[in-house]
Amino acid sequence: MKEDLVISIGGSILLPEDEGVSSIESLADILSSGTDKYDLYIVTGGGRIARDYIGWGRALNADEATLDELGIATSRLNARLMIIALGKEVYPVPAKDFDEAVSAGNHYSIVTMGGTHPGHTTDAVAAMLAERLGAQRLINATSVDGVYTADPKKEEEAERLESLSYDRLIEIVSKNEGGAGPNVVFDPLAAEIVKRASIDTYVVDGNDMENLEKAIRGEEFHGSTVA
Ligand code: UTP
Repeated sequence: MKEDLVISIGGSILLPEDEGVSSIESLADILSSGTDKYDLYIVTGGGRIARDYIGWGRALNADEATLDELGIATSRLNARLMIIALGKEVYPVPAKDFDEAVSAGNHYSIVTMGGTHPGHTTDAVAAMLAERLGAQRLINATSVDGVYTADPKKEEEAERLESLSYDRLIEIVSKNEGGAGPNVVFDPLAAEIVKRASIDTYVVDGNDMENLEKAIRGEEFHGSTVA
């Protein structure tokens, strides 16, 4: 039996600033090369497109739930682009909910999703999907190379943790402010879900494709393991 593997890919990894489609093409190559071993469920984030739309909506005085809907729409748009890059093995539309993702997974090697409901990020979608599938592992491909004791962009003394418990992760990610728009290394709701479902969670820098491949294969990788 193939392993069900869920990967949460930040929008900024799919489409880095000013780099065209080279990253999404490389990601698609890596991801589709593993489908003999894994059934892949890819949840894409909204990245800078979400950030722009949420900023514009906020400037127009939209409420937070409406801003969340802009984020959801952009993450689903990014999933569409991922589908184009992945080609023929993939379910041809982003699944709207977990029922659709699970049933699509019975027929396709790769299924994508974006956001679902206001109030969380696509990391939480990935965690809920992993729980639904009974997946053992979830990979969070993000823009930092692991979970730090504090925000490494703000605090020089912040240290990367090679491995940490669910409770330590929850403690670290709960310090962040709420509101629509990308911000934290891993969504606090996602952290609660991986804890209750005992899903091993790998946090890796998604810009480092070689390293991401190692994490996918279950080999030693540079990043953080939450278990
Ligand atoms: P992302 O999942 O992209 O946020 O959702 P992120 O993980 O912080 O950002 P990147 O992509 O990794 O850089 C963007 C925004 O969309 C809304 C939230 O406002 C979120 O901050 N969203 C997304 C939802 O409300 N519900 C969802 O299920 C997904």
